Amino acid sequence: MNDTARSLPMRDGVAIPQMGLGVMYVPEGTLPALMREAVRLGYRHFDTATVYGNEAEVGEGLRSLDVGRDEVFVTTKLQDGMHGYDNALRAFDASEKLIGSIDLYLIHWPQPAKDLYAESWRALVRLQEEGRVRSIGVANFTPDLIDRIVGETGVSPVINQVELHPRFQQRGTRAYNAANGILTQAWSPLEHGLILKNEAVAEIAARLGRSPAQVVLRWHLQNGLVVIPKAAETRHLADNYAAWDFELSDADMASISSLDRNQSSFDLDPMTYESERGRIES
Ligand SMILES: NC(=O)c1ccc[n+]([C@@H]2O[C@H](COP(=O)([O-])OP(=O)(O)OC[C@H]3O[C@@H](n4cnc5c(N)ncnc54)[C@H](OP(=O)(O)O)[C@@H]3O)[C@@H](O)[C@H]2O)c1
Repeated sequence: MNDTARSLPMRDGVAIPQMGLGVMYVPEGTLPALMREAVRLGYRHFDTATVYGNEAEVGEGLRSLDVGRDEVFVTTKLQDGMHGYDNALRAFDASEKLIGSIDLYLIHWPQPAKDLYAESWRALVRLQEEGRVRSIGVANFTPDLIDRIVGETGVSPVINQVELHPRFQQRGTRAYNAANGILTQAWSPLEHGLILKNEAVAEIAARLGRSPAQVVLRWHLQNGLVVIPKAAETRHLADNYAAWDFELSDADMASISSLDRNQSSFDLDPMTYESERGRIES
């Protein structure tokens, strides 16, 4: 990675750029150009998933960049229908073929009713042992679910990617992650755009001469969270990356932190969510 100041170290020794580009719902055919523009602006991290259906475009985009493959960090995720040891290995093979190489592989949703997530985790551990992937982690896992996979394998995820924004701050999961050396990564860091209309956020943004998105992303960065805002529009891409260029005072941080409602804005419960039934197809 070329900019260690903008990366966070994970417990396995790999550094992850703290702000990445989430590429869910980026219109088909536009992703390689969007990735090139992102890299021009400073991004070095892309977050995709098999279920987003764009791993081939991510691979195409990576091959078209001006920077070397080792300069960028790429995450993809095990799709929900592929839980279990053998299935997870097969799913990884397919993603690797499309993307080229993968830095971080996550279990996308635990789907505890299937009771296969621990088997899937064993497969991810093997992939890392074999050097096929640099880092392995989970998404949408509660502390209890993480305790189980660590108990069964002795291997801890380096990251837990969860829904996280000012109205759903995941304080309990964050505290557990921090106590166990797991980085917390925020998906939908802008609450899918909803938080940008919040009055307190708008007031801070107007006072500082910043956009609401920059204020919210700056709050994430100052909280030590890894963020992956999605932006299909290039003006949003640039706006978001400029969250690196200013600071929020303790009072403004506290004012945003006071917005917590401690519940998902999308009615997504990791204990019951199956993507087939969810409102966000991710
Ligand atoms: N692990 C999981 O289960 C999971 C679930 C959901 C999402 N994710 C990941 O998280 C990423 C981000 O989540 P998300 O897409 O749900 O939500 P998000 O990043 O919170 O919000 C994206 C929305 O905000 C808009 N936006 C972005 N920057 C803006 C700006 N500066 N000003 C105004 N509007 C702006 C985007 O518009 P435009 O696109 O039009 O620019 C888009 O409509 C996804 O791409 C995916 O990689 C993971």
